[in-house]
Amino acid sequence: MDMKQEKLADNYSQNVASKYSRMQNNRIKIDISPFQTIKKLGIKDKTILDFGCGDGSYSKKFIEERAKKVIGIDNSSSMIQIAKVKHSDPSIEYFKQDGAKLLLPKNSFDLVFASYVLQNFKNATVPLKQIYKVLKQGGYLVAIVPITLLKPKNEKLANTIIKICIEKKITINVYIKTDKELQSNIKKAGFSIEKVKKEDNPLAEVEGKYKSKIKAYKSNIYVAQKPAKEGIYHH
Ligand SMILES: C[S@@+](CC[C@H](N)C(=O)[O-])C[C@H]1O[C@@H](n2cnc3c(N)ncnc32)[C@H](O)[C@@H]1O
Repeated sequence: MDMKQEKLADNYSQNVASKYSRMQNNRIKIDISPFQTIKKLGIKDKTILDFGCGDGSYSKKFIEERAKKVIGIDNSSSMIQIAKVKHSDPSIEYFKQDGAKLLLPKNSFDLVFASYVLQNFKNATVPLKQIYKVLKQGGYLVAIVPITLLKPKNEKLANTIIKICIEKKITINVYIKTDKELQSNIKKAGFSIEKVKKEDNPLAEVEGKYKSKIKAYKSNIYVAQKPAKEGIYHH
């Protein structure tokens, strides 16, 4: 883990984690679009990995929608602690784990949900390969990623760290992610991209010195599939 990556991992300290979890109470109600996307793929009886689960709001929602089993992983111990208290369920297990090095059985999940997590990795191919490994063949990844639209001649800023303020309440560091790079990361990890849905990201604002180089800060929902049959030369 390089130093910059470490800085981002500290984002969700106890203080930020509890503030984030309080904001979730409102957000989860308005974040209907990603949930609808997952519902279309089917939740009932599925085994789901909530990758970077935060306070577990989505993990719990999957169980309410009759998922068979949910595993929530997050590398912030404060987030995991909150999830265990606020969104516990006999069918959910929460673990503190780094998404760059998953300690979970291969080919074991029907669906992986990664909501606002991949922007925390300098090279998103790394966690995406981990996700690919734990998904069953034919399984789906639904990833919501904040996308930075850079002004012309600023393309080189991809993967620079920027400051983001969420709901005017908490400020965190994330990497600039572009749609082009994300699509390339997803394909490099072995997935086929089934759908890219463009969304607004009304609750987040860019702050600091890079603000003037940025045209817009949006969100994309990526639906990707691990091939039903892996090619003999792949992975
Ligand atoms: C913006 S929050 C999103 C939480 C939740 N998925 C949601 O949509 O509400 C980002 C989460 O990613 C987690 N995270 C950041 N880097 C991670 C890593 N390397 N491995 C696992 N989780 C990570 C953070 O601790 C935080 O809980």
